[in-house]
Amino acid sequence: MTPLINIVTIRLSWLLSAVATLASPQCRCLYGQKCWPTPSDFSSLEAQISQPLIYPLPPASACYPTSDPSGNCTDVQTNQFNGNWRSNQSGSMQSPNFESFIFDNGSISACYLNTTLGVPCQQGCVPIIGVDARSVGDIQAGVRFAVEHNLRLAVKNTGHDYLGRSTARGSFLIWTHHLKNTTYNASFVPAGAPSVETYDAITLGAGVQWNEAYDAVQAQGRTLVGGVSEGGSVGSAGGWVLGGGHSAIAPAYGLGVDNVIEFNIVTSNGEYLTANSHTHADLFWALRGGGGGTYGIVTSVTYRTHPSVPLTAFYFAANSTNNETFNNLFAEFVRLHPNLSEAGFGGYAIVSSNGIGVFYIALNVTQAQANETVDPFLTFAQNLTSQGLDISIASTVPYLSFYSWYTEWYTPTFSAAPPVGSIDELASRLISRDTIEHNPEGIANAILALDGVVWHFVAGGAVSKVDPESTGLNPAWRKALAHVVWSTGWVEGTPASEIKQLRAALAQSLKNVTDLTGSSAYYNEASMFELNPQYTFFGSHYDKLKVIKNVYDPVGLFVVTEGVGSEDWDTSLNCRR
Ligand SMILES: Cc1cc2nc3c(=O)[nH]c(=O)nc-3n(C[C@H](O)[C@H](O)[C@H](O)COP(=O)(O)OP(=O)(O)OC[C@H]3O[C@@H](n4cnc5c(N)ncnc54)[C@H](O)[C@@H]3O)c2cc1C
Ligand SMILES: *[C@@H]1O[C@H](CO)[C@@H](O)[C@H](O)[C@H]1NC(C)=O
Ligand SMILES: *[C@@H]1O[C@H](CO)[C@@H](O)[C@H](O)[C@H]1NC(C)=O
Ligand SMILES: *[C@@H]1O[C@H](CO)[C@@H](O)[C@H](O)[C@H]1NC(C)=O
Ligand SMILES: *[C@@H]1O[C@H](CO)[C@@H](O)[C@H](O)[C@H]1NC(C)=O
Ligand SMILES: *[C@@H]1O[C@H](CO)[C@@H](O)[C@H](O)[C@H]1NC(C)=O
Ligand SMILES: *[C@@H]1O[C@H](CO)[C@@H](O)[C@H](O)[C@H]1NC(C)=O
Ligand SMILES: *[C@@H]1O[C@H](CO)[C@@H](O)[C@H](O)[C@H]1NC(C)=O
Ligand SMILES: *[C@@H]1O[C@H](CO)[C@@H](O)[C@H](O)[C@H]1NC(C)=O
Ligand SMILES: *[C@@H]1O[C@H](CO)[C@@H](O)[C@H](O)[C@H]1NC(C)=O
Ligand SMILES: *[C@@H]1O[C@H](CO)[C@@H](O)[C@H](O)[C@H]1NC(C)=O
Ligand SMILES: *[C@@H]1O[C@H](CO)[C@@H](O)[C@H](O)[C@H]1NC(C)=O
Ligand SMILES: *[C@@H]1O[C@H](CO)[C@@H](O)[C@H](O)[C@H]1NC(C)=O
Repeated sequence: MTPLINIVTIRLSWLLSAVATLASPQCRCLYGQKCWPTPSDFSSLEAQISQPLIYPLPPASACYPTSDPSGNCTDVQTNQFNGNWRSNQSGSMQSPNFESFIFDNGSISACYLNTTLGVPCQQGCVPIIGVDARSVGDIQAGVRFAVEHNLRLAVKNTGHDYLGRSTARGSFLIWTHHLKNTTYNASFVPAGAPSVETYDAITLGAGVQWNEAYDAVQAQGRTLVGGVSEGGSVGSAGGWVLGGGHSAIAPAYGLGVDNVIEFNIVTSNGEYLTANSHTHADLFWALRGGGGGTYGIVTSVTYRTHPSVPLTAFYFAANSTNNETFNNLFAEFVRLHPNLSEAGFGGYAIVSSNGIGVFYIALNVTQAQANETVDPFLTFAQNLTSQGLDISIASTVPYLSFYSWYTEWYTPTFSAAPPVGSIDELASRLISRDTIEHNPEGIANAILALDGVVWHFVAGGAVSKVDPESTGLNPAWRKALAHVVWSTGWVEGTPASEIKQLRAALAQSLKNVTDLTGSSAYYNEASMFELNPQYTFFGSHYDKLKVIKNVYDPVGLFVVTEGVGSEDWDTSLNCRR
């Protein structure tokens, strides 16, 4: 973009947002208020869409006969921890805390699965009514209706969002879950591109989930950069990619955003657009990292695919009751990362104050090459056994493909493991290669003090080779090696006063870590209480992201927690500041 066009765009967007601010009411219309659409308004919407309107309920309502007389409580209890089941319910989030709502006075509106608490079932943060979208036209009708009636809109795909961004109290829902179209094309040409610009690509509807996307490319002998979770229930073409999209194979092929060729999207004026490097390039830039629920409703994403190649996994597990021994081991593990990165590794490690489990993989790396990379660390660890280190696993294992590794580990068993079906609130930081190289002991100590983190080794390699300015993504990702996440949780029925204390402790631990790492973090897996979310999630890209936001969403229909433009709204996100 030339500077001149840039200035014109900025002025135009100022003008548009000024006009929008003058024209639209201060607050969104919520359920229960006089402004809420009448039954006849909803009937005329229903006449324009392919499915009946839906009335989402908290999943546990099935256990309260007065709330949901036809519900099957056994089904809800059986599937509480099943991410695929939860994503099938229009009223369910993956973490049930986001289905509930805490009032300023400490009262909690919720529908607890634990019926013995004796609390009546309430709607909490679950939307009231919505569109079960099956087509672009359904989404356009829903968007126009929300704008016309000034509704608080929730856009939900799978409900995995860790900041509860896909639900809102008293809101109108557009549910993208059933947009399941999947089209593989070995010679895909982006809209507006010359016919010689072809990609081996797959186009995924907004509701396609990773398990489905992986099966679809496996059938073609290809691989996709995608999310990793039990059952593969995370959305492949919604919030995951819009916020960045990390993967164990991102170090080989880049993040989700680095693999997008094209988006199709409905914007707040109801228009259906294609965004790629040839058309709406500004929007294409912003959609790659500017965050879900912010620029419009994406209807499909086209990704490049990669050849299916063998890989070698590195598995390691050890623990010790001797703090000094374990500290030594973990600091050495941290120190190893620049080498692991050069050698093509990525993956996950689970770390407590006295134990570690490592699940790393390196694509297209032979077992002999992998051994050469990890052997110095294994020798170091072996030497610590005389000082009380227990090593239970230390091996490298060859696999035929990412798919075969993935299916071995992530085939569902669905035991109780946060966040799915359990209350979970996060804190996280990106850790740069520079910090890891200069202060591995400091990082190691800070992480062990947290006593329970997931160390995501999902950056470095190809992620750091992408020009930071080529996408809207937080440039901090390009310097990072690791994304570290920890969390707090509680049981249903915990009073708001105790929740407040748990949140304060999490905030303090985040502050401790930030002193060492700086405050950059991953938009999709982070604290709901960031002090400066604009910098933390978007860094130097924030101003440009906001300008583009105002061009494509001048009425501010799409507002989510800590998203671009959210600072123009109060903490409820219902009223303009
Ligand atoms: C069990 C689990 C495993 C995870 N694993 C990974 C992982 O491996 N890698 C990783 O990077 N992240 C992972 N995440 C985090 C994940 O990226 C986020 O939860 C992300 O928000 C999920 O997007 P979704 O569309 O599936 O979820 P939703 O909660 O439905 O949506 C998330 C956000 O995107 C918006 N949105 C959804 N669809 C659209 C659309 N079509 N157009 C516009 N906005 C939309 C929503 O409004 C909301 O703001 C995981 C989360 C969980 C709970
Ligand atoms: C209720 O759900 C359980 C568990 O999924 C299932 O076995 C049972 O058949 C269901 N009952 C009815 C009446 O649908
Ligand atoms: C989710 O819904 C799909 C489509 O109806 C169904 O095939 C699948 O079995 C459901 N998954 C679970 C875990 O209920
Ligand atoms: C707290 O506020 C809510 C919403 O205003 C109200 O419904 C509820 O009765 C209040 N609870 C208490 C204990 O005051
Ligand atoms: C349900 O609540 C009761 C009463 O507080 C408590 O004793 C029990 O442990 C809870 N069960 C679960 C699964 O949280
Ligand atoms: C899905 O594919 C079918 C068949 O190709 C097509 O008719 C339909 O319009 C597509 N739906 C969406 C939402 O793209
Ligand atoms: C793949 O894309 C090309 C170029 O747009 C088009 O000509 C071809 O029909 C597509 N093939 C399939 C299978 O959709
Ligand atoms: C390591 O963990 C195992 C399993 O929990 C335990 O049996 C063992 O005692 C632990 N070893 C040390 C040194 O802490
Ligand atoms: C070892 O670490 C644990 C957990 O962090 C802590 O409680 C304990 O006091 C430490 N012990 C020593 C001797 O430092
Ligand atoms: C895999 O490695 C081989 C040998 O080093 C190389 O020729 C090939 O291009 C690599 N393939 C991929 C997809 O990286
Ligand atoms: C093993 O540990 C001892 C003492 O902790 C140290 O002197 C020695 O250099 C270590 N050997 C290796 C191969 O790291
Ligand atoms: C790599 O190391 C493993 C032990 O983890 C050993 O079993 C295997 O033989 C080694 N393979 C090669 C090719 O070096
Ligand atoms: C934060 O660091 C301080 C000073 O090192 C320590 O006393 C405190 O326990 C830490 N707090 C948390 C929540 O980690």
